[in-house]
Amino acid sequence: MATATLPKLRLELVTGNVGANVHGIELAGTKDPEIRDALQRALHEHGVLFFEYDGIVSADAFHTFGEMFGELENGYRLSAIEDKPTSAEDALMDSAKVPMKQYQTNRWHGDGTLFECPPQAAMLTCVEAPPAGGDTMWASMYAAWDDLSSYLQRMLEEVEVLNSAKRLPWLKSDATAVHPAVCRDPITGRKFLFVNENYSERILGMSEDESETILQMLFRHVNTPEFHVRHRWQPGRIAVWEERVTQHRGVADFTGPRKMRRLTFVGGKPSL
Ligand SMILES: [Fe+2]
Repeated sequence: MATATLPKLRLELVTGNVGANVHGIELAGTKDPEIRDALQRALHEHGVLFFEYDGIVSADAFHTFGEMFGELENGYRLSAIEDKPTSAEDALMDSAKVPMKQYQTNRWHGDGTLFECPPQAAMLTCVEAPPAGGDTMWASMYAAWDDLSSYLQRMLEEVEVLNSAKRLPWLKSDATAVHPAVCRDPITGRKFLFVNENYSERILGMSEDESETILQMLFRHVNTPEFHVRHRWQPGRIAVWEERVTQHRGVADFTGPRKMRRLTFVGGKPSL
């Protein structure tokens, strides 16, 4: 059944390529398998889903809500993040402790692509919003792929990319993973670009100069406004995003406090 025809669920597209506001889902969530399937399909189709509720979403409520979307991961896997939770607790990201610029979360990236199995999805909610700024942006990797020439697409379909922490000097991780440069979403069947500025180190089988030239061009390509959606935070707002078919970045233009809760979902190995 198409998502738009389910009586309790209504989707409102935010841009032409990525992001949808979701209406009709209570904060307590639903166990209705038909609605959960429709939400999962909407997540993979639109990349990021936005929800809005009254007041701050508690850690317990955030977990319960998240259970609609998959299996929650067990805290951060990146050791340099301070105050990382050691259990299934959510991470409370405080701009005073985890500055965006220092940790380069204000560059386009997918989370954890230096792992064999990066998170499938992630979600954020706002606990305290700065008076202005501190938005989060997402970019559609379906749109980024579709917009490449067929010549470049054919080349990229042939290659794999080494992902590592080499471009992030602060990140003390030896993890590496090789992923295809383009992958296919198992739910939508659509191809998406799978290189990102934080973790994609090298296209295998090319000289360093060839690899770096093509990667830098692709990093610039991701930064195309037509692929983007930008979200303003207020307490009570929740964003859930599919980690492979989108990239995201924070906007480090705020001075006041900014506190967010964050959870991630277990994923398998991406493939074409
Ligand atoms: Fe991130």
